[in-house]
Amino acid sequence: MNRKQPKSGALRGRFDGAADRRVERFTASVHCDRRLYAEDIEGSIAHAAVLERAGVLSADEARAVTRGLQAIRAEIEEGRFEWKEALEDVHINIEARLIESVGEAGKKLHTGRSRNDQVATDLRLYLRRQTGVMRAGIRRLQAGIVAVAEREAASVMPAFTHLQVAQPVTFGHHLMAWFEMLKRDDARFGEVRARINVLPLGSAACAGANYPLDRRHAAALLGFDTVSGNSLDAVSDRDFAIEFCAACALLMTHLSRFCEELVLWSSQQFDFIELADRFCTGSSIMPQKKNPDVAELVRGKSARVVGALTAMLALMKAQPLAYNRDNQEDKEILFGALDTTLDCVAIMADMMPAIKVHRERMREAAQSGFSTATDLADHLVSLQVPFRDAHRAVAAAVKLAADSGRTLDRLTPEEFSRLCPQAGEIAPVLRPEESLRMKQTEGGAAPESVDKQIAAAREYLAGAPPPP
Ligand code: ARG
Repeated sequence: MNRKQPKSGALRGRFDGAADRRVERFTASVHCDRRLYAEDIEGSIAHAAVLERAGVLSADEARAVTRGLQAIRAEIEEGRFEWKEALEDVHINIEARLIESVGEAGKKLHTGRSRNDQVATDLRLYLRRQTGVMRAGIRRLQAGIVAVAEREAASVMPAFTHLQVAQPVTFGHHLMAWFEMLKRDDARFGEVRARINVLPLGSAACAGANYPLDRRHAAALLGFDTVSGNSLDAVSDRDFAIEFCAACALLMTHLSRFCEELVLWSSQQFDFIELADRFCTGSSIMPQKKNPDVAELVRGKSARVVGALTAMLALMKAQPLAYNRDNQEDKEILFGALDTTLDCVAIMADMMPAIKVHRERMREAAQSGFSTATDLADHLVSLQVPFRDAHRAVAAAVKLAADSGRTLDRLTPEEFSRLCPQAGEIAPVLRPEESLRMKQTEGGAAPESVDKQIAAAREYLAGAPPPP
């Protein structure tokens, strides 16, 4: 086959001089956007079908183009395709190869189309798929969390506010909080998908095309819910990609919070958990060290994704309508955010079963810091003491106990009844298990409530998988 080296700068018909080498390298994006090859080919096959309907391609030509594009896909997937920087991007590389392999019909494919609507279409197809990949990853992590939550449903631990011991909960309840955050992330990618799934193709460079292109047919072929309503908007705005990035940044913010807790809990000071050795690393100087590096790195990598969101917003904010080359920069940022997020979700899912819980130590911590003082106040309320008076009486009891280095249950009945004559016997009220039993509100820490959360989570995970 005659595979001529294409002239440097395939689109330079109107120019006198050849492209400067540095300019060529500077403007090329194929090293990055070749990742979109499958979507580019899919979009081109749909465009060929639409051109056939419009009478621009004959049936034979449309068939030749489609087969040619399928053959190129195989070349790429088998590593036989030669990507050329001189051909700038994924679109021109594939089109040039098509023309080379099928000839005249290939030269007609770009009729009524621009790389501006082409790249927007490719990116939407790609990101639509990635929402499915992301959601599958999130659900795997959620399944791991639920499994540990079920195992640790009865493991008492302190809940913190201001990182000070607040009230007893269970480790199961705590983990189900993580589950809830991820459930919203999962839903968020679903909502972003709906706005991604709008077809720009047919908008051409910016004003639409001079051919009767059946855009609804293209949308149906490519699985888009609808077509874009304005050609200028369709080729220029990247809000869908920014939203995708925002969903990644929020998800990473959640993962970073989880990891912060894993790091804290595995420290000698907390000593609530131990992470399996395979998720830890040693120190080059301190022989005793076992560091939670994976958790730290997830927390660290969240910074990149938050940065990517900022970069995407900054990239967009000063662009006049319609397409500007600035938008070529979106892909490196976006793919980086996507890869990092997928990677972190996957490693977190792997890490879940590696969390070993120190139940005794957690329970001990749950009894420190007067964690059931609120329950004592609530007990007084049940004896008709107004809450504010109960709060004051218990605060005085806490002060008395703290000043004498005791816990509340070590106060004598006389000491306590001096502060609150109605109290009666208080020791049973102060037990963490009793505190938990009383947390009856929906979504609260009571064991039955956590069981319900876990059951609902299991049902959720067994439900329909997200669309691809
Ligand atoms: N590589 C370009 C991008 O990613 C494709 C569109 C180029 N369009 C143009 N008019 N130069 O945005």
